[in-house]
Amino acid sequence: MSRFRNRSVLSIRDMDREDLTEVMEVTGQVKSGMHGSFLEGSTIALLFFEPSTRTRLSFESAVLQRGGRVVGFGSPEASSQSKGETFVDTIRTVTGYCDAMVIRHPVEGSARLASEVASVPVVNAGDGANQHPTQTFLDLFTIREQLGDIDGLHVGMMGDLKYGRTVHSLATALRLFGAEITLISPPTLRMPAHILAELTAAGIRCREIEQPEEAGRNLDVLYITRIQRERFGDPQEYESVAHCYRVTASTIDALGGKVRVMHPLPRVDEIAEEVDRMPNAIYFEQAHNGIPTRQALLGLVMGGLAHD
Ligand code: NCD
Repeated sequence: MSRFRNRSVLSIRDMDREDLTEVMEVTGQVKSGMHGSFLEGSTIALLFFEPSTRTRLSFESAVLQRGGRVVGFGSPEASSQSKGETFVDTIRTVTGYCDAMVIRHPVEGSARLASEVASVPVVNAGDGANQHPTQTFLDLFTIREQLGDIDGLHVGMMGDLKYGRTVHSLATALRLFGAEITLISPPTLRMPAHILAELTAAGIRCREIEQPEEAGRNLDVLYITRIQRERFGDPQEYESVAHCYRVTASTIDALGGKVRVMHPLPRVDEIAEEVDRMPNAIYFEQAHNGIPTRQALLGLVMGGLAHD
C-alpha cells in the first residue's frame, strides 16, 4: 500500500526521501500512459482562497482526465467567506462534500489547520509564504526527467527567497538528495534562517550570493522565482527590490551555457523572452508536468494507485 494512502500532504518537511521517490516514480508511470481512470468515483474539492492559474487548473484537469469530479471555488469572493464565514466552518462543511480537498490560502499553516478539522485528506496547494509541496513534486520530477538524477546536482535558487514558498519547499526537499545549493537574492530577501539551518544540519553545501554571474559555470539548474509582491507589508519595500533580476541569454552564457532554467511561473520580468527560445528553458515543460504529478499524488492518496 502507498505511504500516501489517506494521508494529508501538507509540507515537504513531513516527508522522507522514499516518499519523494515514490511520487516521482508513479508520476513517471502515469506520464508514460501506464494507468487508466484511477480517480473514477472520487470527488476532489479545490478551495482556492488566493489567485492561481497553473495549480488550480492543473489539479482540475488532472482529476477530470482520470475520471474524477471536482467541486470548489477559485477565489474567496466566490465562497461564503465573503459573508463572514470562518475558514474552519467552511472546511467542516466541505469535508462532507468530497473525498479529498486541495487548499490554497494566504495564511501560513492553514492547510494543516484544515487537516485537523477535515475528515478527508487535505493537500496543501500553497499556504502563504510557507510551503507548496505539490510544486516541489513536479519540480523534482522535472529535474530528474531532464538530468537523470538529483543526487549531487548543483542547484541555484534566485529571486525572492524570503517569501517564495516554492523555494522553501524545494530547498527542504533537496536536503534529502545531497544537492549543492547556491542561493541568489538581494540581502533583504534571503532564505529564512530556519531553512538555512536545516540545510546545514543535513550537511548540504550551501552559499549565498547576490548576483547570478557570481555562481560560476557549473550550475546544473537555475530556479528563478518572482518577487512576491502580495507578501510585502510596505509597497515601497517591494519597489526597492522589484525588477532586481532579469535573466537573459548573456546570463546563461556567463553560467557556462548548459544550465537548465526553471521557474514555477508566473513570471513578471525576471526572465527575458529571448530565453524561452533557448534549449535551457524548461519552465513550460515544468508547468505541464503538473498534470501527471498531481494525478499520481491524488491516485496514491485516494488508493486508485499503489506503489510496490
Ligand atoms: C507559485 C506560487 O503560487 O507560489 N506559483 C505556482 O503555483 N506555480 C509561484 C508564484 O506565485 O510566484
